[in-house]
Amino acid sequence: MANNPNADYILEVKNLKKHFDLGRGAVLKAVDNVSFSIKRGETFGLVGESGCGKSTTGRTIINLYNATEGQVLFNGQDVHKLQGRDVKAFNRKMQMIFQDPYASLNPRMTVGDIIGEGIDIHGLSSGRQRQERIYELLETVGLNSEHASRFPHEFSGGQRQRIGIARSLAIEPEFIIADEPISALDVSIQAQVVNLLKRLQQERGLTYLFIAHDLAMVKHISDRIGVMYLGALAEVADANELYRKPLHPYTQALLSAIPIPDPEIERTRERIILEGDVPSPVNPPSGCRFRTRCPKAMPECAQSIPELKEVEPDHFVACFLYN
Ligand SMILES: Nc1ncnc2c1ncn2[C@@H]1O[C@H](COP(=O)(O)OP(=O)(O)OP(=O)(O)O)[C@@H](O)[C@H]1O
Ligand SMILES: [Mg+2]
Repeated sequence: MANNPNADYILEVKNLKKHFDLGRGAVLKAVDNVSFSIKRGETFGLVGESGCGKSTTGRTIINLYNATEGQVLFNGQDVHKLQGRDVKAFNRKMQMIFQDPYASLNPRMTVGDIIGEGIDIHGLSSGRQRQERIYELLETVGLNSEHASRFPHEFSGGQRQRIGIARSLAIEPEFIIADEPISALDVSIQAQVVNLLKRLQQERGLTYLFIAHDLAMVKHISDRIGVMYLGALAEVADANELYRKPLHPYTQALLSAIPIPDPEIERTRERIILEGDVPSPVNPPSGCRFRTRCPKAMPECAQSIPELKEVEPDHFVACFLYN
């Protein structure tokens, strides 16, 4: 391992593109040349407005979609080139949890069987041992063994998300993609689920890709954050650094939309209101995709696409203001 310079990274996404062919020559560029890496044991937050390509990025990483171009390396292996036994091993190591815990749980199955499904598929245990394991997982996520014989509709949103998390954990993954796991929950419940995910990460050394549509939601869980706009990454930085010193005008606008609890500061808070709508990913603007809404756009922004460049240590931005 010592001679592998990327041993720190569990996941490397390299120039990833996912385009959907809509027919009659129209192509929707959901993900267009996205690159980022995730270190083992960290949480990488992926943030951006609805439709910017977050879920498509997640689904391509976990190999629910093939890539149009580019690579996803998981523990150094290209996930889109796996075959045979390696596919099954990969399916065990990477799991996804979803925004709508209800839609993702089979209503006809008991909670115990939902959690046990992965255990069966991967032949991890059976009989009494399997049962014990299900009880243990329920307790791990703050539920209890009596819940195993119940059905999903008997639970609240937050409890269902806990069931979804228990199901993911059943096969002992290394990496979890959480696609807006708290967006559908009441604010009071959101913090509980975030705290559960944090605790599990510490106990099990898990790595997370945590997807959310606003920066306030990822603040407390992310070590690093990537900000996405219309299929591309605008900025990637350490979470504290991003909040302290956002460089991209889009990140600055997103941050200015987060209310500040202190009423004094809140009153004088400067809000950057973005004009217009997000353009269509079928026909994105030339050059920088954000330029049509950017308060700081310059003529050169229409000419070429700014590359995501490291402008300060571990702080990457795709903007001509900085290079
Ligand atoms: N299977 C598909 N076929 C065609 N277009 C798709 C498909 N899946 C997603 N898209 C389009 O790709 C773009 C990105 O969608 P995606 O679901 O990845 O966005 P998102 O950032 O997850 O949004 P949200 O915050 O609403 O979940 C959107 O324009 C969407 O309509
Ligand atoms: Mg989504």
